[in-house]
Amino acid sequence: MIAEAQLETFGITKGRAATLEEGAVMADRTAKAIRSPDAHHIEVLEQQNRVLGYYWVSLVASPAPMLLDIYVVTSSRGRGLGDVIMRRILAVLRERKVDCLNLVVSRDNHAARALYSRFGASLVEMSGDLLVLSLPVSSTA
Ligand SMILES: CC(C)(COP(=O)(O)OP(=O)(O)OC[C@H]1O[C@@H](n2cnc3c(N)ncnc32)[C@H](O)[C@@H]1OP(=O)(O)O)[C@@H](O)C(=O)NCCC(=O)NCCS
Repeated sequence: MIAEAQLETFGITKGRAATLEEGAVMADRTAKAIRSPDAHHIEVLEQQNRVLGYYWVSLVASPAPMLLDIYVVTSSRGRGLGDVIMRRILAVLRERKVDCLNLVVSRDNHAARALYSRFGASLVEMSGDLLVLSLPVSSTA
């Protein structure tokens, strides 16, 4: 159920590439989210004016906040930045008195799964190739 909601959020039908029109819808949703900081927490991480990655948490997702995206630029992966970003996300959620964070990850996304399991993620449900995980916000890994 959460997995289907996530697909809907991104305007993507499983098994088909998004059209340019759908891409425009996604861009519009992103712009709206950036203008709604109480509902969406989105941060871009930079080092000396170089973008290293970003994350996007929906604070209004039900039943718990949802990590909609976490991304590290290809050239900076495998150096612990994902870990740094996760710690940042959890600190932000702790300030908001949130207990857990949900997320969806592909079964074969080994790097992301390794990252989440380090923070105590547990399986909530499986939907095809997608796993819905829940992560305790109290985790400091
Ligand atoms: C997932 C992602 C954010 C991780 O960022 P990162 O900076 O590389 O993360 P870290 O350096 O902290 O490493 C994370 C873990 O992945 C492991 N890892 C890295 N590449 C891997 C691979 N190809 N296969 C298996 N594990 C891998 C690392 O060893 C580390 O695990 P460990 O702590 O148990 O050793 C990054 O790979 C990314 O942006 N991927 C594309 C976007 C994406 O898939 N986002 C997740 C959506 S659910």
